[in-house]
Amino acid sequence: MKLYHSPASPFVRKVMVVLHETGQLDAVQLQDTTLIPMAPPADLAASNPLSKIPALERPDGPTIYDSRVICAYLDDRARAGLYPGGAARWSTLTLEATADGIMEAAVLMTYEARVRPEEKRSAEWVEAQWSKAARAIAAIEARWMSHLQGPLDIGHIAVACALGYVDFRHGVRDWRTENPALADWFALFESRPAMVATRPPAA
Ligand code: BEZ
Repeated sequence: MKLYHSPASPFVRKVMVVLHETGQLDAVQLQDTTLIPMAPPADLAASNPLSKIPALERPDGPTIYDSRVICAYLDDRARAGLYPGGAARWSTLTLEATADGIMEAAVLMTYEARVRPEEKRSAEWVEAQWSKAARAIAAIEARWMSHLQGPLDIGHIAVACALGYVDFRHGVRDWRTENPALADWFALFESRPAMVATRPPAA
C-alpha cells in the first residue's frame, strides 16, 4: 500500500503511530509529499480529490482518506482493537474528534503564518483558532483523563499527536500550566516507541 506522507503532518503521524502500534509498518510504502495548497501534487490529486494527506492507496480497492478512515481501516485489517465497542465507543470517537479538531486549528495557525502573505495575516483569526484548540485541550483535561489512563485506543493516539503538533509548531503556547494532568499523561505517552519513531523533524 502507498501512504501519501509528510513527517510534519499530525494527521499523518496518527496513521504512522497506528502502523507502529499494530505492527503493520511493512505493509506500507511512504510517498513523501510536499503540500503547496495552491499547487497540489498531481498524483495526490488523482488519488484524493481533496488533495489532502494522509491518503492510502490500496492494491485491492480504491484509495481511502482521511486519517480517521485510514486509522479505522488499519485497525480492522490488524484486528487490533483500537476502537472499543459498547458505550465506550462513542467516548473514544468523540475524544478522537476533539483531538483532530485541535490539529485542524493548529495546522490553520501554521498555514496563516507560513503560507498567507504577511499583509493579509490576521492575528485575531489566529487567536480565534488558538481559543478553539485551548478549549478542546481543557475539555480533554476535564472529561477524558480517566479514559486516557485506560487501555490504548485511537483516542490516546489522536490526543498525543495533537499535543505533539502544538509543541512542534506552536511551542510558545503554554497549554501545560492549566492542564497539569494531561501534561503528565503526555510526558509518559510521548516516550512510547511509536511516538519516538514518528517525532516530527526539527522545525
Ligand atoms: C506542517 O508543516 O506544519 C504541516 C505539513 C503538512 C500538513 C500539515 C502541517
